[in-house]
Amino acid sequence: MTARAVFLVGFMASGKSSVGRELAQRLGWDFLDLDERIEVREQKTIPEIFRERGEAGFRLAEANALRDLMAESLRGDSVVALGGGAFVQEDNRGMLRRWPSVFLETSASELWQRSLADGIERPLRGNAEEFARLYAERLPFYREATVTIVTSGKDLATICNEIECTLQGWGKAEAAGSYQVPPIQSRTGESK
Ligand code: S3P
Repeated sequence: MTARAVFLVGFMASGKSSVGRELAQRLGWDFLDLDERIEVREQKTIPEIFRERGEAGFRLAEANALRDLMAESLRGDSVVALGGGAFVQEDNRGMLRRWPSVFLETSASELWQRSLADGIERPLRGNAEEFARLYAERLPFYREATVTIVTSGKDLATICNEIECTLQGWGKAEAAGSYQVPPIQSRTGESK
């Protein structure tokens, strides 16, 4: 079986989940959210995981959830939203290397304003200065994504159109066999 997948990458509050949901709906693909996967797998909220196990414990849970998602959930065409730190981890980037990734780029100051407004509890947000510092530290890793889409001042439809145009280019690459989801072993060992 071949399936397509695209991974959305970017800092906190960059709109990965809302863009992901909208894009998946437009394409008729599945939408998967890594943070939601972590919470279901661990039976805890993300803030609880940070409180109980610290950032190192959270990163472990995140890598495990990503490994499960890659092994078990990518059965159909999927749009996957990653948490803001997931693509920064080298092992995670290694797991994702053969799939296209999209960095949703917005300035740190705009992201900070959004993060204040959306009411989501983010354990690593810190103050404005810490937020901007973390953004700058992570930017080189986000730039390793296959493409960057600048999202400032654009609505969801415009952002999704731009990603879809890029995906059409990838569709040609896919036809040449450059990315294919490998057969997934079912629990009974049968190849799907
Ligand atoms: C994190 C971002 C969060 C979540 C966790 C850690 C980060 O996801 O994965 O709090 O390291 O930037 P969002 O980017 O969806 O806020």
